[in-house]
Amino acid sequence: MTDVNERYVESLYGKDEDLERVKAGIAARGMRDISVADGYGRLLTMLVTMSKASSILEIGALGGYSGICLARGLQEEGKLVSLELLQEYADLAKEHMEAAGFGGKVEYRVGDARQSLAGLKEEGRTFDFFFIDADKEGYPVYLEYALQLAVPGAVIVGDNILLRGRTVNPDKAGPAVRAVRAFNETVAGDERLLSTVLPGYDGLAIAIVK
Ligand SMILES: C[S@@+](CC[C@H](N)C(=O)[O-])C[C@H]1O[C@@H](n2cnc3c(N)ncnc32)[C@H](O)[C@@H]1O
Repeated sequence: MTDVNERYVESLYGKDEDLERVKAGIAARGMRDISVADGYGRLLTMLVTMSKASSILEIGALGGYSGICLARGLQEEGKLVSLELLQEYADLAKEHMEAAGFGGKVEYRVGDARQSLAGLKEEGRTFDFFFIDADKEGYPVYLEYALQLAVPGAVIVGDNILLRGRTVNPDKAGPAVRAVRAFNETVAGDERLLSTVLPGYDGLAIAIVK
C-alpha cells in the first residue's frame, strides 16, 4: 500500500476477521504476503456476485485470501477449484477457507498450473469465473486455457499486470515482463474478449468472454 488515495479508501473499511487470519497465518510462516490488494479482493467478491458465478477457477492460492473473497460471492451451490504449485500453501489456504466457512466449497489441485489446466481440459470441465494470480511467466498460457475452459459470458480477471512498474519500464524485458505485456495486449485486443484494465494498486485486468 503506497498510494495516499489507496490508504484513504482502506481506512473506510473495518477489520475483516477472516482476511486478517489469512494475513496472520502467512506472516507466522514467514511467507511473503503477495495476496491480492484489499480493494481488489472486495472487487472480486462483487464481480463474482454480479456475474452470478457458480464455478470458479483460481490459479494461485497462496494463503487463501483471494479464495475467501471469491467464495463470498459464489451462488448457493457454487464451487471453487484452486490451482497451487505448493502443497504447503494449498494446505494453508484450505485451513483459512475452512475457518471462514468455505471448506466445503473448495477443491485444491496441487502442482504446476499448466498440468492442472491440461487435466481440467481433458476432464471436459468448464468455468464461469477465472482469477489468474500465479507465476507471471504463465499468464499468456493461463489466459489461453481460460478461454478454452470458459462458458460464454465467463469473467476472467488477472492480477498484478503492472508488475510494480516493470511492465511500463522500457529497460525491463525479462520473461515475466514480456509475458505480462503479451497477456495485457491479448486482454485488450483479442476479439473474443470485452475488457478493461484498471491501473490502481498493481493493476487488474478484467475481461468477459463474448
Ligand atoms: C500472488 S500469489 C497468489 C495470491 C492469492 N491469489 C491471493 O490473492 O490470496 C501466487 C501463488 O501462485 C503460486 N504459483 C506460482 N507458480 C505456480 C505454478 N506454476 N502453478 C501453480 N501455482 C503457482 C505460488 O506458489 C503462490 O502461492
